[in-house]
Amino acid sequence: MSDGSGTQQKGKNAFFALTRVGTGEKGFVKDSTKPCRIRCEVFGRVMGQEFFPKAACLINTGNEVRIMKRQGIFGVFVALALMAGCNRGGEPGEQAREGPGAKAIKVGVVLELSGNVATYGEEGLNGLKLALEKINSERKAAGKKIIELVVLDNKSEGIETANSVNQLIQVNKVLAIIGAVASTNSLAGAKVAQEAHVPMMSPASTNVAVTETGEYISRICFIDPFQGEVLAKFAAQELGRNKAVIITDKASDYSLGLRDAFLKTFEELGGKVVGEESFSQGDADYSALVSSVKSYDPDVIFIPAYYGDVGPMLKQAKDAWKGIVKIGGDGWDSPSLLELGGAAVFGTFISTHFAADDPSKKIQDFVKSYEERFGARPGSMAGLGYDSALVLASAIDRVEGELTRDKLKDAINSTTNVEGITGNISLNKERNAVKDAVIMEVTPQGFRYKTTISP
Ligand code: PHE
Repeated sequence: MSDGSGTQQKGKNAFFALTRVGTGEKGFVKDSTKPCRIRCEVFGRVMGQEFFPKAACLINTGNEVRIMKRQGIFGVFVALALMAGCNRGGEPGEQAREGPGAKAIKVGVVLELSGNVATYGEEGLNGLKLALEKINSERKAAGKKIIELVVLDNKSEGIETANSVNQLIQVNKVLAIIGAVASTNSLAGAKVAQEAHVPMMSPASTNVAVTETGEYISRICFIDPFQGEVLAKFAAQELGRNKAVIITDKASDYSLGLRDAFLKTFEELGGKVVGEESFSQGDADYSALVSSVKSYDPDVIFIPAYYGDVGPMLKQAKDAWKGIVKIGGDGWDSPSLLELGGAAVFGTFISTHFAADDPSKKIQDFVKSYEERFGARPGSMAGLGYDSALVLASAIDRVEGELTRDKLKDAINSTTNVEGITGNISLNKERNAVKDAVIMEVTPQGFRYKTTISP
């Protein structure tokens, strides 16, 4: 990689040493010109934002690891490049590993590891790790190249996603990219990946426009026209509701798309949307919204938005909205919903991708290994992160001859019947997975499975 990182940028950038980094251990960024000589392994906890108080790029230069601050055409970004990395020659996506000739397949990951939907990034990355540990040990045993990740935090922002995707392509030279979660972020990153002809696969973005960006962009989850229909049917047919208020997050493509889909089906089924309200991410005071919603006298309130806003909103509306059913989509699927909303979220319903209380052996084995490894119960994003690694590994295996971005793109797009944690994954010609949705009830014990709805 002639134009890559390492030596060429050395002169232009300030370096900071990274001290004390190891798996599960905290690292510190200290002003220093001395590079540290620590092996940081693929899944060392160095990718979390807490390790990078300043925007920094961790570049691996052979046997030493450096952190550098960089600004320029990519803006400020955070990068984690893994051992024996970016300043070596070779094809995109390949990196020397442990001795000359040994190569690994390098895949970029852009996730919401900090910012307003940070639980998605955390769970998604955990899921990816869990799957790759298994996949890589099988690949090693079979004498195949292992898959290594270069993980970047998009801070839950669109512009950071575009910068990260750019960084992964131009500097880290990854073969493909997994990410992002929030649709607005994926839309921003997808433009860059499509332009550069680098396959980008979203584990979780459901807005229909994400994969419409072009043939290099795919997803392993269902889309919002389906999710909206599922929720409208559930509200109208299962719950027998016919007067809805919809509350949207103005700046979220996810929210606006899901609103459209819900409204269409709900009204087709004879329901009426009697009022609509909106808010902006991070709003703290919902009192005006709470009383306007109440004044429409709805029998169901649909909030296509993320947990970080929904939790506090429902908490503030606890008394005013008593007796009215509240429903949402996968954006509510976070353990933080219960922490933020308290008792106000009990008795609400959501549609999502995966039920951790599904009694099947496959799911229970996954839940058990996730809990053992990370000490938490997995939500949908954990399952989707896991499945994105399965789909990617299956596509890599199906490429014949030289592994190129173009061939990998074709292999991803022809994915059929990959048995995932979140269902059986096949991509249609729009590069979307056609999968079941599950309805969950939020209870004091967490999310509880209610029913499955098939496309
Ligand atoms: N579907 C959401 C979006 O497109 C993201 C999401 C997926 C959130 C899965 C939670 C779980 O923005």
